[in-house]
Amino acid sequence: MASRQAGAAVLDQAGRLQGEGAVVRLILLGPPGAGKGTQAARIVQRWPIPHISTGEMFRRAVDDDTPLGQQVRQYMESGQLVPDELVVQMVRRRLHEPDCAQGFLLDGFPRTRPQAEALDQLLEEMGQRLDAVLLLEVPDELILERITGRRMDPETGTIYHLKYNPPPPEVLPRLVQRPDDTEETCRKRLAKYHRETEAVIPYYEQRGLLRRIDGTRDPDQVTEQIFQVLGVPQ
Ligand code: AP5
Repeated sequence: MASRQAGAAVLDQAGRLQGEGAVVRLILLGPPGAGKGTQAARIVQRWPIPHISTGEMFRRAVDDDTPLGQQVRQYMESGQLVPDELVVQMVRRRLHEPDCAQGFLLDGFPRTRPQAEALDQLLEEMGQRLDAVLLLEVPDELILERITGRRMDPETGTIYHLKYNPPPPEVLPRLVQRPDDTEETCRKRLAKYHRETEAVIPYYEQRGLLRRIDGTRDPDQVTEQIFQVLGVPQ
């Protein structure tokens, strides 16, 4: 990814941003529970870019009981997608915030073909372009186990898994489970992924932006592959 086109990432041998105005614009794509949030936390340690998770933004709005939260609660808890207009409007506002000047890491957006088209239009208006779309590939049979074993730390935002990434004992009592992490809702979310979100894959493949990552390996190996495909030395 050592490109020198206007608006594209310019990285040195250590993977640091180089030059004034250098930016990194990435998308993390993949089924629910593929490890997008886990990997996003690691990627933003490398570059000073915001991790923009539409799911997280909606969860905050629901917790704060804002008008947006009231609109999206039912969709989320039942494993449905939030309507495109609401998501696109929220992302549009977010990408105009000052911390996106160095780029961004989108997690969970776009999730439908219309969202991908809206993002393209928005970036064109802003005179920006994407660097890469990272697709975390994990088969359905692994997803269910990952989702039902996931626990979140409400104090730090850290994502744990009871088996694959066990929390320290002192943290365990305060961990919470997401309301949409039941087996029934997980199956609905997976079905939605196959029906709507997978259509986004060929969209980015045709533009030469898609990078396939084996999300079945352990988190460190997944991170390693991500930096490898981005051309960033470890
Ligand atoms: P969102 O929050 O985006 O959920 P999601 O895409 O379903 O993804 P998850 O957060 O469930 O999983 P993840 O891939 O981040 O996995 P994680 O790293 O936690 O969206 C929630 C809802 O909001 C949607 O259903 C929808 O209603 C709405 N929404 C959001 N964006 C929208 C949009 N654009 N349009 C419409 N609606 C939208 O990992 C999962 C577990 O596995 C963890 O326990 C973790 O510790 C473990 N794990 C991670 N990596 C590994 C590994 N390599 N090996 C073993 N275990 C691992």
